Order: sequence, then C-alpha cells, then structure tokens
Amino acid sequence: MIDQMLPPAVAAAESFGDPPDARLFPEERAALGEAGAARRREYTTVRHCARRAIGALGLPPVPILPGVRGAPRWPDGVVGSMTHCAGYRAAVVARDSAVRTLGIDAEPHEPLPDGVLGFVGLPEERARVARLSRLEPRVCWDRLLFCTKEAVYKAWFPVTGSWLGFDGARVSLRSDGTFHARVLVAPPAEHPTAPRDFTGRWLAREGLVVACVVVPASAP
Ligand SMILES: CC(C)(COP(=O)(O)OP(=O)(O)OC[C@H]1O[C@@H](n2cnc3c(N)ncnc32)[C@H](O)[C@@H]1OP(=O)(O)O)[C@@H](O)C(=O)NCCC(=O)NCCS
Repeated sequence: MIDQMLPPAVAAAESFGDPPDARLFPEERAALGEAGAARRREYTTVRHCARRAIGALGLPPVPILPGVRGAPRWPDGVVGSMTHCAGYRAAVVARDSAVRTLGIDAEPHEPLPDGVLGFVGLPEERARVARLSRLEPRVCWDRLLFCTKEAVYKAWFPVTGSWLGFDGARVSLRSDGTFHARVLVAPPAEHPTAPRDFTGRWLAREGLVVACVVVPASAP
C-alpha cells in the first residue's frame, strides 16, 4: 500500500498482521525490557519490516535500537522511520546519499476524539479541515492532520534532535493526496540548515490513514 506514496530511492515494508517468524536481536529484546504483549508484537513486527526494507537497499539485517527520545538508530548511511497502529506496521528507509530524512505515520481512519483537533490544529489548519470535510466527507481530515504532523515530527527530530510541538509546524492538506508542512520555529543553532519545508503524500485506505514525508538529500 505505501509503495505508491514513495519515490524510488525509498524502500518500504509493511505488515497487516504479526508474522510468527518475526524475531528480535538480543539487544533489541534487552532495549524493549518488560513490555506487554501488544507492545512486544508491534515492536517486533515493525523491526521485521525495517529489516526487509533495509534488505531491499542491499544491506544486511541489523538491530534497530531506540535512541534519543525513542528515535530509531539506523545503520550508518541509512535514514528511516517506523510506525505501528492497530492492524498495521510499516518501515521506510533510504540511503542518506539520496534522502536527508524521512517520516511516516499511520493511524486508524476515524475522527479524532472530541477536543483533540483544538490541541493539534492551528486556526488555519482547522479551517482547512472544515472546508475539506465539506468537500470530501469520506476522509477524516482531522485524523489526517494529526497523522501528517506526527510524520513531520519523525522526520524533523532525527535531523535536529529537538522537540516540535503541534503548534510548531503548519500543514496544508490537499485533496489530491499530497501535503506541505512548514516548520514555524527556527532550527537549533547547531543545526542551522535543518529542513523547514516538508512535502508529503497521504492516503486513506484499508481503515487507515498513512502519511509520509521525504526530504531529498539535494533539498536546500
Ligand atoms: C513520537 C511520536 C511521533 C510517535 O507517534 P505515534 O503515533 O505515537 O506512534 P507510531 O507507532 O506511529 O510511531 C512509533 C515509532 O516512532 C519512532 N519514534 C519514536 N520517537 C521518535 C522520534 N523522536 N523521532 C523519530 N521517530 C521516533 C519509533 O520508531 C517508534 O516505534 P518503536 O518505539 O517501536 O521504535 C508521538 O508519540 C509523539 O511524541 N508526538 C508528539 C510530537 C509531534 O508529533 N509533534 C507534531 C509536530 S508538527
């Protein structure tokens, strides 16, 4: 499903279930620690997906350990992102010579709980969600806005090492399956060239919304 959202430089793998043959490296098991069954399943399957995607780049399987603030630590020369939600897990990776950073997020295709849009959306984003909801009521635009912002955060954090609140980026959703995000805060002084414009694609299918941003290595 996600392949169609991605440029050729990005390798992806996804799973709608938890394959029984998915295995963790001992270091990954240690990093997970005590976790409930659901967390163990998503953590294991998404790493299984990540190794399939890394394999598609021609690289060997390696442990993918959580790093600073939970951001995955990819092998040298690789950038990537992972997501999981009920019934879906996905990983996207690319060589850092082709892609500077990546972010992916998947969510159940359901309206956000009451009150959450007010926390997630800037006034103009909420106005756009309302307009798009009138034009295309089959899409849960509020959930999609949330999903795109999480994808942006997952691409922003590995480059900057810095937090981004929901008011820290403005997303323009488009009904053609694309979106643009502009980060509204300055990057940290030690990362002055961090990207602030993110172009992404989204889709709503199989009871899910999925959003992905890809910043090419050649981007200014
Ligand atoms: C970190 C966060 C984005 C994860 O999203 P989520 O919908 O809760 O969960 P998902 O299943 O989609 O993604 C989880 C995966 O994201 C990755 N991840 C976690 N923290 C991350 C970070 N700081 N940077 C990049 N990737 C991160 C991990 O791979 C994680 O899976 P793992 O724990 O099995 O390794 C979310 O919990 C969060 O903190 N959001 C607030 C920040 C934000 O989104 N701001 C919006 C800015 S406009």
